[in-house]
Amino acid sequence: MNFANAPEARSGTGKSVAVMAALPQELRGCFGLQTETHLAGRVFGECTVGAHRVVSALSGMGKVSAALTATLLIDHFDAGWLIFLGVAGGLAPTVQRHDVVVATDLLHHDLDASPLLPRFQVPGLGTARMATDASLSERLYQAASHHLHTSSAGNSTRHPKVRTVHRGLIVSGDQFIRNPDVRSELRKTCPDALAVEMEGAAVAQVCASFNIPFAVLRTISDDANDEAAGDFQAFVEEVAGPYSAGILEHFLSRL
Ligand code: ADE
Repeated sequence: MNFANAPEARSGTGKSVAVMAALPQELRGCFGLQTETHLAGRVFGECTVGAHRVVSALSGMGKVSAALTATLLIDHFDAGWLIFLGVAGGLAPTVQRHDVVVATDLLHHDLDASPLLPRFQVPGLGTARMATDASLSERLYQAASHHLHTSSAGNSTRHPKVRTVHRGLIVSGDQFIRNPDVRSELRKTCPDALAVEMEGAAVAQVCASFNIPFAVLRTISDDANDEAAGDFQAFVEEVAGPYSAGILEHFLSRL
């Protein structure tokens, strides 16, 4: 499916734009008044932004929760495409806290059915790396670049630097990475990974199964090292919501 023509092609189909995050703080301030639906222990919010019906959802942390939520967004709420926003731990040396990573593809770093399948390969998909929609990701990249260069998000005495929007591989697993040895091992097994989180690959797998275009954007909250837990908590409370809201506003206004 090509997102470039999606708004026109889909305007008559009633499909919604799905916006998903793991934690409430990651979507704080993103939407005004929404109609709420409770399903499978989750809250789904529906609203209209311009000409678009938007359905938002919080999955909670982890891959099963994310897969369940993405499935409901697509199958129950009729999402035609899906955006995932949130935070991640930085892995590549070029990726700093407060930078943004837009995924080109996602991989389950904790999936290993070898010797039955090559390490990381998703059973049934025939691949380890699940590509995001190029057009949707480009729009998200543009929205993030615009936001970082026109707002003061993330500026502080500790981080007065120029923030960068990266594109590349994001890896996911059911583990909060905060041990330097685990981080090093991850860097060894996935040398081109830019960031690590706990949901993206699960959403990618669901979207691939339904043939739904999707994109994933992560702001770097920590360096996945022994300071990760404290850095993560502070970042999620103070910074994650304003980043998401600024980027999403620009993104949705140009759909
Ligand atoms: N999300 C944000 N930081 C993370 C980390 N260090 N490990 C896994 N997921 C994360």
